[in-house]
Amino acid sequence: MTSLKINGRLFTLDADPKMPLLWALRDLMGLTGTKYGCGAGLCGACTVHVDGEPMRACLTSIQSLEGKSVTTIEGLADDKLKDSWRRHKVPQCGFCQAGQLMSAAALVSKHPRPSDSQIDEAMAGNLCRCGTYTRIRAAIKDYQGKQEAKS
Ligand code: FES
Ligand code: FES
Repeated sequence: MTSLKINGRLFTLDADPKMPLLWALRDLMGLTGTKYGCGAGLCGACTVHVDGEPMRACLTSIQSLEGKSVTTIEGLADDKLKDSWRRHKVPQCGFCQAGQLMSAAALVSKHPRPSDSQIDEAMAGNLCRCGTYTRIRAAIKDYQGKQEAKS
């Protein structure tokens, strides 16, 4: 048995401890917002947060997560960031966007006003076959503007 804390809820799974988190989320817990892209840590579609840090769910075994706190796109609480994504109509097919948002959320939680190079570094591991990169950048910048307007 493996106990996992996902989006603030405790789940006990009767599964192979080496099972990748992505499989557990999608197949055992019905949390299908996290997407399977490459399964090899290359595309970022499966990005979740583990104790606030972006991680690849396809490469992370459930046994490595005992005692840790996992957040998926279903539990992402930053509505301002989601609003910014909507305002800029970022998604095209949408397949990569849960992972993109999770990487961006981890970035702005540490750096609410990230520099261009911080954006580049934080988002470099998230691929988008539709090429939404300029909209993603604009949405992160717009979030930054909203944060500045607030302060
Ligand atoms: S599915 Fe995990 S990085 Fe591509
Ligand atoms: S929006 Fe289609 S892959 Fe990114």
